Amino acid sequence: MTAVVTGGAGFIGSHLCEALLERGEEVVCIDNLLTGDIRNLDDFIDDPRFRFIEADIGEGLPEDLPAPDVIFNLACPASPKDFEALSLEILDVCSRGMVNVLELARESGAVLVQASTSEVYGEPEVHPQIEDYWGHVSSVGERSCYDEGKRYAEALVMAYRRRHGVDARLARIFNTYGPRMRIDDGRVVPNFVCQALGGRPLTIYGDGMQTRSFCYVADTVAGLLALADADPGDIDVACPAYNIGNGTEITVLEFAECVMDACGTSAEVQRVPLPQSDDPTRRRPDTSKLTALTGWRCETDLATGLALTTEWFAAKLAETIGRAAQGPDRGHRDVSVVSRPRDHTHGL
Ligand SMILES: NC(=O)c1ccc[n+]([C@@H]2O[C@H](COP(=O)([O-])OP(=O)(O)OC[C@H]3O[C@@H](n4cnc5c(N)ncnc54)[C@H](O)[C@@H]3O)[C@@H](O)[C@H]2O)c1
Repeated sequence: MTAVVTGGAGFIGSHLCEALLERGEEVVCIDNLLTGDIRNLDDFIDDPRFRFIEADIGEGLPEDLPAPDVIFNLACPASPKDFEALSLEILDVCSRGMVNVLELARESGAVLVQASTSEVYGEPEVHPQIEDYWGHVSSVGERSCYDEGKRYAEALVMAYRRRHGVDARLARIFNTYGPRMRIDDGRVVPNFVCQALGGRPLTIYGDGMQTRSFCYVADTVAGLLALADADPGDIDVACPAYNIGNGTEITVLEFAECVMDACGTSAEVQRVPLPQSDDPTRRRPDTSKLTALTGWRCETDLATGLALTTEWFAAKLAETIGRAAQGPDRGHRDVSVVSRPRDHTHGL
């Protein structure tokens, strides 16, 4: 089996590449390193079944790709911090990039798993969120490039399914955390863990009563693999979307306490006003649809996942401090392999 993973040098993508290699598959990772990090691949980049190609999928996919059996399209900046700085790049990868990936799936007959997001539900009025819920999304808010970009990508998937019979499935991923998250990506997990490890107060925006459901990355990856493995005849044709996330909902304030426990600290919390944004106030997936399809369930509880995550962040912070003391960055490996892209987006 050959798998193509776009965005494979990112947080979730690198764990997915690793899991695919562990299953014995050939893996081609395509990433432009916009928000990813080549060091995420350190543990397996020398595996002869792994190939890294540095390329922007919006510009077209490399011409010399082996015909894949399965494609996972994870390429897209995903942190709210990126939504302003990379808004046009996000819209591009969700539109031109999505078309290029769908064309590859059409030509090769591969199964395609598109990494969609809980953000397609916006500020949900239905709780927990089920796949049939159409969402409550602002097209003009600060997050619209991401929310609407991912919704457009879903619409492209549906058009290719209906017109070209592409076997594409939508994985609506909810908040995922774990090793290899960017330390500075601005999301609550890296923020809290780095603050707690540094003995600094944990910043709570607003009253901290907004809720999140945190899924450990190994469970998210297992969900993506299970969805890819599902029999085509069992996929819901009308709505091939499947939530992947952890159904345990906790407030941000409770989560801060869990992080402090995991880090063995009793740092204070510091409350600051909630910034003006469309950040959803409640978030919890109903994952029964994927469980019914594949038997998949989350297996990692928050305490276990946070222990693994804080251990990784502690090592990463120590490495970053050590590298800063040594001077210029020595950790970046030069492995860029850029293939000439083929562009399927003419006339879009
Ligand atoms: N992390 C989460 O909690 C979460 C939740 C919902 C959905 N998702 C989705 O999962 C996917 C992975 O998210 P992540 O958290 O690992 O983010 P990430 O930023 O760590 O990974 C995204 C990767 O895509 C690459 N990329 C971006 N634009 C590209 C382009 N045009 N061409 C090639 N590569 C490109 C980046 O360099 C990066 O390596 C994204 O599609 C995201 O929308 C993530």
